[in-house]
Amino acid sequence: MSESSPSRVRFRCDRVYHGGDYNPDQWPEAVWDEDVRLMRQAGVSIATLPVFGWQALNPAEGVFAFEWLDRVIERLDAAGIDLCLATATAAQPAWVDQKYPDVLVADEHGRVRPHGNRHTFCPSSPNYRRLSADLVRAIATRYGRHPRLKLWHINNEYGGSWPNYCYCPRCAEAFRGWLRERHGSIGELNRHWNTAFWGHAYDDFAQVEPPYAHGEGSIMGLRIDWRRFHSEALLDCYLNEAKILREITPKVPITTNLMGAFFPLDYRRWAPHLDVVSWDNYPMWDDPAATTAFKHALMRGLHDGEPFLLLEQSPSHQNWAPSCRLKRPGELRQMSYQAMAQGADSVMYFQWRQSRGCIEKYHGSILEHHGRPDARVFREVSALGAELASLGTATLGGRVPARAAVLFDWESWWALSASSGPRRDLDYLTEVLPYYAALFESGIQTDVIGWDADFDRYDVIVAPWTTMVTAAQAARIGARVRAGASFVATHFTSRVDENDYMHEGGAPGPLREVLGVTVEEYDALPTGATNGVRFEADGAEASVSFLCERLWLHGANPLARYTADFYAGEPAITANHHGLGDAYYLATKLEPAALAAFLRRVCAAHGIASPLADGAPPPEGVEVSVRRADGAAPLLYLINHAAAERQVALPAGARRDLLTHSVFDGSATLAPRGVLILQPFASQS
Ligand code: GAL
Repeated sequence: MSESSPSRVRFRCDRVYHGGDYNPDQWPEAVWDEDVRLMRQAGVSIATLPVFGWQALNPAEGVFAFEWLDRVIERLDAAGIDLCLATATAAQPAWVDQKYPDVLVADEHGRVRPHGNRHTFCPSSPNYRRLSADLVRAIATRYGRHPRLKLWHINNEYGGSWPNYCYCPRCAEAFRGWLRERHGSIGELNRHWNTAFWGHAYDDFAQVEPPYAHGEGSIMGLRIDWRRFHSEALLDCYLNEAKILREITPKVPITTNLMGAFFPLDYRRWAPHLDVVSWDNYPMWDDPAATTAFKHALMRGLHDGEPFLLLEQSPSHQNWAPSCRLKRPGELRQMSYQAMAQGADSVMYFQWRQSRGCIEKYHGSILEHHGRPDARVFREVSALGAELASLGTATLGGRVPARAAVLFDWESWWALSASSGPRRDLDYLTEVLPYYAALFESGIQTDVIGWDADFDRYDVIVAPWTTMVTAAQAARIGARVRAGASFVATHFTSRVDENDYMHEGGAPGPLREVLGVTVEEYDALPTGATNGVRFEADGAEASVSFLCERLWLHGANPLARYTADFYAGEPAITANHHGLGDAYYLATKLEPAALAAFLRRVCAAHGIASPLADGAPPPEGVEVSVRRADGAAPLLYLINHAAAERQVALPAGARRDLLTHSVFDGSATLAPRGVLILQPFASQS
């Protein structure tokens, strides 16, 4: 379906953009002057609008009303505020749904949903494609040459509302066409999906139905292909708009706001079509810093480490969270710098002025219902705006010089979620995070990559729970290991091929040779139950849980053995020297401290460690990240996520903090929520 991507338009910030969603169409014109006056006060340098303006811009078919937006843009322009212009296609107006019912989405029971909410368009609807294209063409024609236009923002958070996908007859038919292309013939589809199981073989593509909630639930290949199809169908909607923008404004970069580790869409397939990656960061208040850093790294990895845009975050409440907890004083600043430490070149929010009614009226905003700039949130945002402005271009464009990577694979995520077994509480993302966290907490600079990444850039590649591996992917891993890299695979890696069909000869399928092991059987431990492992080298013991596999070794050496149950004494962690490199297999889930120690050892063999003094891990709760722009000195970010002061031992050499201009040599003290952006001091003299 998706066309090949055109070459990307370069996007470079000329300052740390500070601003966010502005919805003037939801407010009377009387407040617009005040909006812009206060935006200046808050240091807003970019506004994203009008994300939900379809109805206001296009109140009837063929009728466009731009005058109000002209007046908003005039005001922003006069205030020196740049534009991230939205195509406004995420929530179609009532007239569209009334006139063209094919636009309405059908839920997972096939029921057509009545008009309302957002993201409720059917991606296969010709009328949605046509009417959204009309709107995009009109917006691009009107504003495409505006000197303040820096970025196009297509739609909004594709797939972001239930039911995520559309189960209407038109999508079902498009899916059948997609299957025909992917599998070639119904015979091949039957083979790939193993439909002989329960006698489910199809005679014809016409017999294939979407995996309705009340329908076919036993064919995993069907469920995974449905996700692939829909990820592409929504990407086609994006491309339908992008094509018009590229025709009319070939030099203006394009983005759409992604959502981090978002299950329904394979963002790695989307990324080549975005000029710049942008995403919306809404962590839960108790999410560990490593979890948020992981999501930033995942987004950064979509464009091989290029800077991304933080397009939305809440200045305070998230009204959809279990409780509308306030961000504590300094917390917004801390999380904004965390985004920058991990690759962001902007700090943006949802939204400027708090909604007066409807579902988001209790969501945080820069300007709250009372409209007062002397409010804490407004003051914190303004202070941050001033601080970011003072940084000028110093932090922009840097890449994280990571030589370690965690592989994250949407298709393995889909495969594991579709799978019955090995345990009901299995969640791929939850299982991947501890591996990233172990590296993050060790201060080791780590990218999150996909199968399409350039493996040559990494000396350590950790692939947790990558259950779906093809022969070609395994061959690339093998080549990288033979060339000297370390590869760490875990239990349940490489069980199935791209159709969720079990590899012949047992797991880890085409990686058996590289890893030097074959899995004989797995034991999923009841929740709360543990086993243990003892390391051969030093006798150290660690607790393990969740899943224990029993292995046959053919080349690999045991590094640790189980300590309990009928498989006590059998290998639990192995290393296989393969060519110039090593392939490790973790047959079980190590407790966090032991996992971190293990991964640090693997990294140390390549000279990879934290950038702090002696390569030591940072103190508990301190995030350490490095960004380096071409031709510039590396910046060392230190962020204290702990509730207490932390002392950090710095690498040799004097360093100056870009925020306070204080100079540090030897060590630095970080207050709770404290941030330092350290630049080698000598480079300034
Ligand atoms: C985002 C969305 C915004 C707003 C915000 C509230 O997911 O893009 O439009 O709804 O959530 O948290």
